[in-house]
Amino acid sequence: MDINRKPLYDSEKARCLGGRGTMWQHENQEKFSLLLENIGSCERLVDIGCGWGQLLRMAQEYVSELWGVDESPEMIKRIKRNCPKVNVVTCRANNLQLPGCYFDIAITSQMLHEVKLFGEKSDLRTTLLEIRRILKDNGRYFLLDHLDAGDGEIMIKLPKKEISKLLEFEEKFRFYKADHEMVGDNIVKISKRCLQDFLTKYWSFNTSMESMEMNETHNVFRKSEIVGLIESLGFSVSKWVVLSNIQTDIKRVKGELLEGSFWFRKFLFIAKKL
Ligand SMILES: C[S@@+](CC[C@H](N)C(=O)[O-])C[C@H]1O[C@@H](n2cnc3c(N)ncnc32)[C@H](O)[C@@H]1O
Repeated sequence: MDINRKPLYDSEKARCLGGRGTMWQHENQEKFSLLLENIGSCERLVDIGCGWGQLLRMAQEYVSELWGVDESPEMIKRIKRNCPKVNVVTCRANNLQLPGCYFDIAITSQMLHEVKLFGEKSDLRTTLLEIRRILKDNGRYFLLDHLDAGDGEIMIKLPKKEISKLLEFEEKFRFYKADHEMVGDNIVKISKRCLQDFLTKYWSFNTSMESMEMNETHNVFRKSEIVGLIESLGFSVSKWVVLSNIQTDIKRVKGELLEGSFWFRKFLFIAKKL
């Protein structure tokens, strides 16, 4: 673990994300509703990588003891406005400053991919073991994160202005060589992975989030890999759900899928500590 690494989100990034609430309202609603409807009976819940506490605010109604953990003091600093009764802990997920065998539910929502992509190689495993440590026996871990779109290409019609954004994206994106082929008037042949990254990242152009978004991918977890890893660490996966249909992102830019089929770009799984 690199203890000297600065939190990923400084004040500029936190401000940038905080100001984009309405843009992601629909998407956040979908993911937070899915998480909330699976809580069921729960006395103590912790949200790790909780940001400014949007999920915790909604969970107040269902859970008596709530904890919020985040490595970034800037992200977490206004959390009490959202959720006055939350217990706040500022620490990294791979070294949780939390008691063992204490929680009924631990949640990471769009946090674990950052551990995988920006942390040390061992951080993913260490983080999952830390989550297991803080859960009671039979406690549940909810992992909601970015799903790899998988191999394959699709054909899509895009308005001219979106094609120029795609060119800008391909110039700026650093995680892999992003590319497309023009196969007709405004018709683009493109890999599913590249389209997923383009559609979910170009909002960051010329903001303080641009460099981070251009250096990471939203094609992160494959089902067999992450389920295999979590089960090897003493959990049993009881539920797997996919969400965030790429169709919504394509419609948002007034695009039209001409060849290939839609897919979902996020997942939620629930794993029980054995
Ligand atoms: C993309 S935001 C997601 C916020 C919120 N959970 C959501 O679903 O909208 C990721 C959050 O995880 C935090 N984070 C990233 N890596 C972390 C780590 N290793 N330990 C603790 N928090 C981390 C970031 O500071 C940020 O607040």
